Amino acid sequence: MSSGTPVGVLAEVAGSVVILVLLGLALVLGWRRTHGPRTVRVGTAATPSTMRLQRATDLRKVELGPWPVDSPFAPFLRTFARRGIAMRDPVVLARSGGQVVGAYVVDSESEVGGVYGPLEPALRTLLSMQRVPFVFLEERKGQPPGTPAGFVPVDRYDVLRLEPVSARAFESGIVRPMAAADLPGVVQIAQTTYFEAGGGRGLRGGWMDGDVALVAEVAGRIAGFAFATVEDGAALLYGLTVHPQFRGQGLGRELMAGRLSALAAMGVQRAVVEVSPGNPAAHRIAMAAGFVRCGGTVYFSARATDAPDVGWSVA
Ligand SMILES: CC(C)(COP(=O)(O)OP(=O)(O)OC[C@H]1O[C@@H](n2cnc3c(N)ncnc32)[C@H](O)[C@@H]1OP(=O)(O)O)[C@@H](O)C(=O)NCCC(=O)NCCS
Repeated sequence: MSSGTPVGVLAEVAGSVVILVLLGLALVLGWRRTHGPRTVRVGTAATPSTMRLQRATDLRKVELGPWPVDSPFAPFLRTFARRGIAMRDPVVLARSGGQVVGAYVVDSESEVGGVYGPLEPALRTLLSMQRVPFVFLEERKGQPPGTPAGFVPVDRYDVLRLEPVSARAFESGIVRPMAAADLPGVVQIAQTTYFEAGGGRGLRGGWMDGDVALVAEVAGRIAGFAFATVEDGAALLYGLTVHPQFRGQGLGRELMAGRLSALAAMGVQRAVVEVSPGNPAAHRIAMAAGFVRCGGTVYFSARATDAPDVGWSVA
């Protein structure tokens, strides 16, 4: 409401400016809240230090500097970050002393966040930068992670490691490298198996980005698949899946043997895989291949309807 006098007009303009400044400030603060940089105190009273959390949006910066992350997934974090940024997924890097010491990566399709590295002191801040209904945290020094506020633990996984990686006998008439034409069959099996897989974005992305990919073909039909991300002489195995109609016939073992053989031929030295002890077939396949436990992860859900798993507990 203008009084029409110069003073009234001036007051109205000043009021609008104040509102604009406040709006701008709210936008900047909102951006800062989700993108950082945000600083968290870590260390002890005797040796205090800080950790800087910032959303990564520049692919070139991901390639720079050392990433001394204390995690079994350390060799693959640059790849996770690179792929996340390329897919416009939230990727938050934690730096201490200028070096990347951890990462929080969210897969927008499955709505699962993963926290890698010793980021417990920064967890609350990380989760406030990007809220997720599901998050997994790593075990530290053999101890399960604490439950983040508002979450319940729903599953746990063993992180298994194999070194050295060696070739195995496998049925080459069944297991072969995946071709582009196999992608629809692979995605269809993934959708049947993992209801949350949506369009199989992770598999498509991995395939497009040059991951090692093998399929099992039975009577002209894609019956299963297995993938691996290779970085710095190490491989992260993922996605071992056999169509329900073909399970229990040894195809899972064949795919694992074919995958390890392909990796050995590439000069890969170490392999890591995450398997739930509650998945006996997958666990048996990994253990029979010589993998040993080197860590663990716990999956948490913020959905009250997700009941905690039975038979185990976390802090
Ligand atoms: C895990 C999976 C790939 C196994 O494939 P598969 O072709 O059925 O496995 P295999 O026939 O090669 O069996 C492998 C071993 O597991 C055992 N096994 C198979 N199904 C089992 C079950 N339901 N319970 C216990 N053991 C089982 C087999 O006896 C075999 O052990 P053995 O060689 O000592 O006798 C398949 O079950 C699957 O696709 N599951 C859903 C996706 C998944 O969970 N993937 C694992 C991601 S890490």
